[in-house]
Parts: sequence; C-alpha cells; structure tokens
Amino acid sequence: MSQKRTNRSHNCGELGVNQLNQEVTLCGWVGKRRDHGGLIFIDLRDRYGLTQIVFDPAISGTLGGGSAEAKAAFELAGELRSEFVLWCKGKVRSRPIGMTNSKMTTGEIEVVCFDLQILSKAKTPPFPIEDDIDVAEQLRLEYRYLDLRRPYLQRNLITRHRMLQIVRQHLDANNFIEVETPILYKSTPEGARDFIVPSRMNPGEFFALPQSPQTLKQLLMISGMDRYFQIARCFRDEDLRADRQPEFSQIDLEMSFMDEEDIFPILEGMVQKLWKQILGVDIKAPFPRMPYDEAMNRFGSDKPDVRFGLELQDLSDIFATSQFQVFQNALKPNARGIKGSVRAIVVHNADIPAVSGGPAEKFSRKDLDDLTKHVGAYGAKGLLWIKIQPDGEMQSPAAKFFTAEEKSLLTSKLQLKPGSLVMIVADKNKVVYDALGALRLEVGARMGVIPKPEDKNFAFLWVVKFPLLEFDDKEGRYFACHHPFTSPSPEFFDDFINARNMDNIKASAYDMVLNGVEVGGGSLRIYRSDVQAAMFKLLGLTPEEAKAKFGFFLEALQYGTPPHGGLAFGVDRLAALLCGVGPIRDVMAFPKTQKGTDLMAGTPSEVTKEQLQELSVMVVKPPAK
Ligand code: AMO
Ligand code: AMP
Repeated sequence: MSQKRTNRSHNCGELGVNQLNQEVTLCGWVGKRRDHGGLIFIDLRDRYGLTQIVFDPAISGTLGGGSAEAKAAFELAGELRSEFVLWCKGKVRSRPIGMTNSKMTTGEIEVVCFDLQILSKAKTPPFPIEDDIDVAEQLRLEYRYLDLRRPYLQRNLITRHRMLQIVRQHLDANNFIEVETPILYKSTPEGARDFIVPSRMNPGEFFALPQSPQTLKQLLMISGMDRYFQIARCFRDEDLRADRQPEFSQIDLEMSFMDEEDIFPILEGMVQKLWKQILGVDIKAPFPRMPYDEAMNRFGSDKPDVRFGLELQDLSDIFATSQFQVFQNALKPNARGIKGSVRAIVVHNADIPAVSGGPAEKFSRKDLDDLTKHVGAYGAKGLLWIKIQPDGEMQSPAAKFFTAEEKSLLTSKLQLKPGSLVMIVADKNKVVYDALGALRLEVGARMGVIPKPEDKNFAFLWVVKFPLLEFDDKEGRYFACHHPFTSPSPEFFDDFINARNMDNIKASAYDMVLNGVEVGGGSLRIYRSDVQAAMFKLLGLTPEEAKAKFGFFLEALQYGTPPHGGLAFGVDRLAALLCGVGPIRDVMAFPKTQKGTDLMAGTPSEVTKEQLQELSVMVVKPPAK
C-alpha cells in the first residue's frame, strides 16, 4: 500500500533546533519561492507559521538514499507556484550561519525535502498572500478566502476565538447559562430598521430578524433562568460605518435580582481577564463612572476618549448678549423653550502661519476650511475661528462683533495667548456636541495626541445617568434613548409616571466605553406591566399598536417578573480593540461592504419569480435614478 501523503507530523510554525535531524512531514501552502543556482527555496505556510523548505539535488538525493522520490521531489519543485498545496517529507537542519531569521519562530532551521507531493494546484492569486500589501479592499473582499490566508487576519480571528473562550469560561463560572434564542422572530426595537423574512406558510406575514435578543432575554428572566448569556447574532438595517455592520455579534447577558453595583463587577472582571490573558495587561477596577451630562459637556460625546485633552469649553455665558447673529440664533429658546449653546475647542501653540512663521501650517486657512467641512457632516452650519496674533489681537471672521468685554472674558476663560486658536460651533446642543465631539477627535489626530494601539493605553469607563428619553424635533415625539424596556432611575419614577419634566428624566442605563468606543450598553429594566405600558404610550404607541407589537411581553410581565438588568457587549468591537485594529471588518470572517453587500458571494441577489410567488411577495423597484 502506498504511503498516506495527506497528513503531517508537525505544523509549519513549530519546528526549531529541538527537532534537528528529525524526519518530519509538513503540509501547507507555497508562499515565497526563491531559486538559487540549482537550489530551490520555498516558504511553506499554514495557520501556525512558515517553514523554509529546501530542494537541493545533491543532498535531497543522499538523504533519501538516492531514492526515486528524492529525485522526483527536486524535479517537481521546479513546477511549484504560489499557493499550491503541498505535502512534503524531509529532514530538519540548521540554516547556514548568516542565513538565520530571528524574527521567525522557525528562523533557525530549514527542512531539506526528499519527498514531495502536490496536493492541489492553484490559479495565480489576484494578490500576494502577505501582510504588507497595498491592494484595493474591494478585490480583497471579493476573494475573502484568500485574504483570510494572510497572517494578519488569521491572528485576528484566533484572538477573537480566544476572547470568546475566556468570556464563556468567566460567565459559566459566575452561574450564567448559555441559551440560544430564535433568529426568525419579531421586531425588537433597538433604533434601526428591521430585516424581514417572508413566511411561505403564512402568506403576507413576515418574521423580523432580531436587532438584539432584548425581549427574549427578559422573558428568560421571567422564566426564572436567573442568569443568561448568549453569543448572539444581531441584525440591523442601518447606515454602516467602520464600527458598524448590518449583522454583528453581541455577548448578550441578563441577570435577575441585581442592580448596577452587582452587575458592574462581573463585567469588569470579564474585561480584566480578557486584557490580562490576551494582552498581558492589568486593568484597574472598579472603572471610573462618568455621568452622561459630564461626558457631553467635556467631550461632546457619550463615548469619550478620555486619554487626551482638547476638552469642550462652554462660551454661552460670555456671548449671552452677543451682536453676532449666529450666536444669537443658537442661544434663543426654541418652541419647547430649550436653548442651544456656543462652545469651543482651543488649541494653544497652534502652528498658525502668521504667528509661528513655521512650515508646519497645521492650521492653515485650508486646514480650517477642511475642518469646517468636517463639522458640516455633523450638522454644523459653520466653524468660527479666532486666532490670537503675535500682538495679542484677535483675528476672526466675526471679530468686529466682539465687544471689549467679551474679548477680555474669552481671553481669561480660555487663557488665550499668541498662537492660540479657538474653534467655535453655535447651534442647538445636539449639533454642537456632535460637531465638536468629532472635531476634537479630528484635531487630536492631526496633532498626534491620541495614543496609538501599540501604546497599550486602555481607558475604560462607565458612562451612567443617561437621559431616558430624547425628543425628536422632526417627528415631534419622544424616543427611548437606549430602548423602551429601560427603567427610569428610581429618583425619577414619580416624574415618569406623571409624565413631568420629561427632558430631565434619567435612566438606569449604562455604557462601557474604552478609548472612545462604546463596547457595551445595558440597563436595568422596567419590570412592571403598567409602567411598561406607560412607556409605550409615551413613545407614541396606541394601546392597539402596543398590543400588536408587544402584547405577549406586557402579558408576560404580569406573571411574576423579577427585577432584572443586563448588558450587551459588541463582540466585534471588543475583538478589534483587543487586536489593536480599527475597522471591525478586520476581526470578522466574512464582513459586508459599506453598502451592506457581500462581494464574494454576490449577495443580496434577486430570486426567481417562482420563489416570489411561493412567498406571496411582489417586488416593486424604485424608479431608476
Ligand atoms: P446596544 O444597541 O447598545 O444595546 O448594543 C450593544 C452593543 O452592540 C454593539 N453594536 C454593534 N456592533 C457592530 N455593528 C453594529 N451595527 C452594532 N450595533 C451595536 C455595540 C453596542 O454597545 N439589547 C441592548 C443591550 C441591553 O440593553 O442589554 C442592545 O442591543 O458595542
Ligand atoms: P456667515 O455669517 O454665515 O458668513 O458666517 C460667519 C462665520 O461664522 C463663518 O466663519 C462661519 O463658518 C461661521 N459660522 C456660521 N454659522 C456658524 C455656527 N452655527 N457655529 C459656528 N460658526 C458659524
């Protein structure tokens, strides 16, 4: 019987000087290939690493006893191309002095091959399988299975796997049980659109894919499961960004008879284990807590990156009686009696050409135009700048409107001096926060003051005391800031039940934030049916609508519901932070594009008329643009 030539004694990442002179078999893909006067070298690659294989006609023959296989191996090596899949047998030897590579685990040895089999040939790949390549992402997504051969993506997926193992272990040790909940389900509101699935057996009716297992995990608390978790797939039809995918995973969990003081330590403990075991980094707990209002006032964001300054400054008082129309408009109360604000970010020692005369021009006229465009994307109608000249004069498009008193107050409040640059947005608060929050990150990046992943600077915090409700001017009604199952904070219970001071009611909601990323969000829940019904009513649902959408849930709440609460972490965001990478698609095996498509499989795609008929679905396409 011929020898089995598909299995291996070692993988491509484990051989070293300990195996010198051993006979080994390896399997893998052909990476780089180099021919050196009669010698052929290849890098054989698998998930574990690279091993250098040598084909040497002089030695291969003798090692293999001059066998037919040995001769054939050398002949065959001439035919090898990138990404061929090989089985090879050979002997481990030291690399010649000067040829070792201390960067590789296997860098001190090579395997002299005397028996070779090509298990699979490969077409020439559309891009080389190497980490430092400059290839359009489109092409890489189209050939995702090849992109996934790159060590970078393999490392990321392995880290993600390890992360989930540690999470499961931690939650199991804390009495959580893992329960799977349905994917074909009913709309679960988390603020995005639903993906819906027609039901063949119930013509005209549809399932919705869950935006999260929110109601299901609460039902599990009513069932007495006490502590639940799930690595849950969630689906949200929303506009995508680098940290958002239409289909993503959560570490979703829920606990009964617990409040924040019980819940936070369990979650902090989980994060501590992840950072220790994966990165070797000690994270201090308990994490600092920052009220939402403070986060917005200081950082213009409910997920503040607190590792650097450039904090927002409120100038509303200084400009309360300003002659500048833009400021006046912002500070006028709106129809609901709510005022906007005038706020700023200040950079001292800005490389303003007129001041420094230096070449850096970090804040040239063009830069300020760019930054104005940048804040425009967040709804700001402009970005007013003030530069302090060498003689202390304020240069600004609005300078003529500033009174001597305003200038003096501004100078002392912001500690302005020659070289200072003030960037102001005046608008309703939401726009001011969004615009300056984004500007802070952009200016921080341009100035190079935001720590990099390799700095291993991890600033975890809890953002707490979120508002319960948010008024939408366009729709003219309130929305739940987190989701409609979130409980008001106990001290606002009366206001809530009596629908008083709605804009000021705080929720028992909390987000875990790391370096400007919301890694998880959760809350204590409403556990009384009448309070839940009041919430639905407040959000504009008629009793009939509430019954149609959530009747089962309101009913369930009446059968003995324990006080409960929980949180969901974004698996993809946590993994990206642990891997030190930016976009979450780099920690997902098969991510979607910005347009929510899969370029490899070509989805979404049309279905046949017959399928549509069977589903009782008719397609009405929008008119071509
Ligand atoms: P929330 O909507 O805040 O809460 O989601 C929880 C966490 O999930 C991650 N996340 C996403 N990750 C990738 N792509 C997306 N499109 C995306 N959307 C959210 C974020 C976020 O912090 N049911 C509640 C949780 C609860 O109350 O227990 C929920 O889903 O990291
Ligand atoms: P305008 O009066 O529109 O010519 O604007 C005068 C200056 O004010 C320009 O530098 C604008 O960028 C700036 N500006 C306009 N609207 C705002 C706003 N809402 N907040 C801050 N600056 C603004």
